[in-house]
Amino acid sequence: MRSLSGDTWCFTCGDPKDAAEPTVDDTGWSTVRVPHDWAIAGPFDSQNDAQHTIIHADGEKQARLHLGRTGGLPHQGVGWYRLPLDIPAAWSSRRVRVIFDGVMSHSIVYCNGREVGSWPYGYTSFQFDLTPFLLPGGQNLLAVRVANPSNASRWYPGAGIYRNVLLEAVDPAHIAPWGVAITTPDVQDAFATVVVRTEVTTDRAVTLQTVIRDPSGYEVASDVVPVPASTKADQTLTVANPERWNLDRPALYTLRSRICDNEQVVDEVVTRFGIRALKFTPNGFWLNDRPVRFQGVCMHHDLGLLGAAVHRRAVERQVDILQEMGCNAIRTSHNPPAPELLEYCDEKGILVLDEAFDEWRVPKVANGYSNLFDAWAEKDLRAMIRRDRNHPCVVMWSIGNEILDQGRPEGRETCRWLTAICHDEDSTRPVTAGFNDPDGAIQNGLAGELDIPGWNYRPARYAEFREAYPDWIMYGSETESCVSTRGEYVFPAKILRDHERSSGHCSAYELESPCWGYPPDIEFAAQEDRPYMLGEFVWTGFDYLGEPTPYKFHWPSRSSYFGIVDLCGFPKDRYYLYRSQWRPEVPTLHLLPHWSWPGREGEHIPVHVFTNAAGAELFLNGQSLGIRRKDASDPLRRFRLVWDAVTYAPGELRVRALDTQDHPTGEEAVQRTAGASARLTLSADRIELVANGDDLSFLTIRMCDTDGIVCPSAAQPVVVSVQGPAEVLAVDGGDPTSLEPIPGCHGRLFHGMALAVIRTRANVPGEIFVTVESSGFVNTSAQLRSF
Ligand code: GAL
Repeated sequence: MRSLSGDTWCFTCGDPKDAAEPTVDDTGWSTVRVPHDWAIAGPFDSQNDAQHTIIHADGEKQARLHLGRTGGLPHQGVGWYRLPLDIPAAWSSRRVRVIFDGVMSHSIVYCNGREVGSWPYGYTSFQFDLTPFLLPGGQNLLAVRVANPSNASRWYPGAGIYRNVLLEAVDPAHIAPWGVAITTPDVQDAFATVVVRTEVTTDRAVTLQTVIRDPSGYEVASDVVPVPASTKADQTLTVANPERWNLDRPALYTLRSRICDNEQVVDEVVTRFGIRALKFTPNGFWLNDRPVRFQGVCMHHDLGLLGAAVHRRAVERQVDILQEMGCNAIRTSHNPPAPELLEYCDEKGILVLDEAFDEWRVPKVANGYSNLFDAWAEKDLRAMIRRDRNHPCVVMWSIGNEILDQGRPEGRETCRWLTAICHDEDSTRPVTAGFNDPDGAIQNGLAGELDIPGWNYRPARYAEFREAYPDWIMYGSETESCVSTRGEYVFPAKILRDHERSSGHCSAYELESPCWGYPPDIEFAAQEDRPYMLGEFVWTGFDYLGEPTPYKFHWPSRSSYFGIVDLCGFPKDRYYLYRSQWRPEVPTLHLLPHWSWPGREGEHIPVHVFTNAAGAELFLNGQSLGIRRKDASDPLRRFRLVWDAVTYAPGELRVRALDTQDHPTGEEAVQRTAGASARLTLSADRIELVANGDDLSFLTIRMCDTDGIVCPSAAQPVVVSVQGPAEVLAVDGGDPTSLEPIPGCHGRLFHGMALAVIRTRANVPGEIFVTVESSGFVNTSAQLRSF
């Protein structure tokens, strides 16, 4: 297996003539690194996706000008990639295939000027056999044409070969692509049965040798079967005393499949898997006989400042930040993810709801997946399942999000067809979809065709559905859609829907949403009061590029407000509200807003506390402002503590957590009034890095006063530079209204903070000295090292 990722690809935007021909001179093209997203470089411009259009999904009836819907980034149009390939003469007897983890979108792959195949959906992985097109023993040319139509996405899709590419040369006797399927139908304390189906393609009689190793690498089971001709070979192995894949100890086994010709190994595939049992019932979900509720979030695929180009370390950081909050599940809305996400969720013990589509036949946008559905849905769905079925983290397949076919007569048939495809590929996981028109989906029989219907934004109806359909297994497939901007507090604090302000921001009191949404507190109550619900998937874990609701018709607004975490990966206040519910074992006490309000002396400021303590006492400059206790009779006092009107005076606001008897628990949180900007502080998430050209350090930059208090209004420009074997990929503060380019070493603080992303160089280890400058302040304290 050879990685074709890296910085050896030539790229050009546009559609030059004969671009697939080896003879064409590409010296004027740029050299880029794959995974590559050509659009993240910008510039942001409302004209990039300025279409008068209807987003049917949002119930719009008239065409309107949607400005930042796809982030205002230039992802539309055609781009070409070319890569010279040295193919050894010895490969003349082998089958050579190229594997694309994801290309956005409508890709056509050429080899030596001849078309090999095409794959329109940007989110599924695909492979092509290059053998008939290659000239072994010399240089060959791989070329890929990418074309992104306008009006094809409701969020920022990215553009280009944005995931990894691999080349593989195999013996004519080999395991078919994604040809190993592992299930664990019987898991007990004493043993687990591991059933393996291996698809073998061969031109001669061979044997299939299968070996299972436990998480420590010891061989624990093996089996050999003769394979006289191309076939699907079935094997059943037994593992004694299995270590199970659990959320707290996600034990991972490996299964090595070898094709042997006499004594010679001619092909080998290693597949990681987990031994675990899933049980879904109308009263809950069990993982290995332990009840687990989905404390889930929906995630789009972009990686914030890095755009859509996949970076393993950036994926890991997102998962780490979410897991720290108590999140135990991710819904890959609304498309299959990069394989890196599933690999990491396997390792960390995060459950995944793997989703295929945002549209079936009825369009949400003019040039979306509905145009591809009839020709491609089966291929895309099978590709998703075959690639992902061995990941223990994946627990459900979702065939659609709010598909508009949900209320139409033919919707039921389509659902039955897609569900059958899933069951055909994998009988072990239930099939689901998320509905925002439950009545339509129930009436046309669509919801009943699924193993598990998911409800989007319907906490008010859970009880009614339960009464009507007591046998149904149900969960909140999409919840909340609370909107906020990190660090922006707007007074008074109150529930607002579809509320727009000239600032282009939403309030961080975490009470605002579009008309279909609601604050997190409402879903907490619905889930807590209805223990049969399997849990929820919040819209969304992180902010993402595009869909800047409620500012979808306004400019500038380039990124979403939905995230619990902002575009940089900085937690918003809401993060602590979730943590207080989702990690009851860890004390959480979070006080908002910040306490730097010059000019507001004597005015009322609401103070909210997100905590899992029973109550708390608030003090301003040492004076008690009273005790608040959680109040189950008031939806907005049940999960948060509120002091509606604290008269502002600069100084120190302090909160002390109390138990049910009003005794201090020992936890305290403080907000202090900041003075003038006086110094920058830096903190790198990792200082020891791998010199592989992929590893990243995420550096948080804060503007503080002389006492180290963050200056919440600091918005100065920042410049980051490095000396040593690394480069600055991006600097930004996460302001959804910012139109400054994200990549490069310039950025701007937003509410006193910014993030710099630093990448190592391949094969050049060494010391990396980082310098951060902002409005005359310089900090050189961040020293990294790559090995
Ligand atoms: C949902 C939809 C998501 C996103 C969200 C915003 O209805 O499924 O994709 O658009 O609304 O609130």
